[in-house]
Amino acid sequence: MKIAVVYTSKTGNTEELIQILFQLFLNKNSDVALYRIEQFPLKELSQFDGIVLGTYTWGDGEIPCEMMDLYREFEIQNVRHIITGVVGTGDSGYPKFCGAVDGFRDMLYVQTKLAVTLKVELSPQRQDIERCKRFVGIFMDKL
Ligand SMILES: Cc1cc2nc3c(=O)[nH]c(=O)nc-3n(C[C@H](O)[C@H](O)[C@H](O)COP(=O)(O)O)c2cc1C
Repeated sequence: MKIAVVYTSKTGNTEELIQILFQLFLNKNSDVALYRIEQFPLKELSQFDGIVLGTYTWGDGEIPCEMMDLYREFEIQNVRHIITGVVGTGDSGYPKFCGAVDGFRDMLYVQTKLAVTLKVELSPQRQDIERCKRFVGIFMDKL
């Protein structure tokens, strides 16, 4: 089962969260590869069995523009078989906390087999490790 973890991060919070999740996937001996969005082979999207997306939120609860090509590929390609999960960091001082996670969630729920989501306040703290473990456990059970 081939898994891709694909993310974007401007100031490092989401990258930190993704590093934790990636390590947890490796601990499960899964065939998992880590990509920054700029490196991800968009055209090969449908060849993955599982995809985890990581994103911060921008503007007024928006998905960052560098993630939009990937968003559109999910709508175009045959991705119905893919188990997906979406994680993000955000700042709850904004009205739409982790709005980008909600944006991806709604689309992935329609287009793929969405398994799990996770929202983290800014940079991951100790208590978030347990939530990350749960995320990976739920994702792997669905795969
Ligand atoms: C201009 C701007 C707009 C933002 N808008 C939101 C928002 O609508 N909702 C939210 O939860 N966080 C928002 N944030 C906070 C970031 O998503 C948050 O700091 C995130 O952890 C950054 O992730 P990164 O370190 O991976 O880049 C905004 C930040 C900036 C600078």
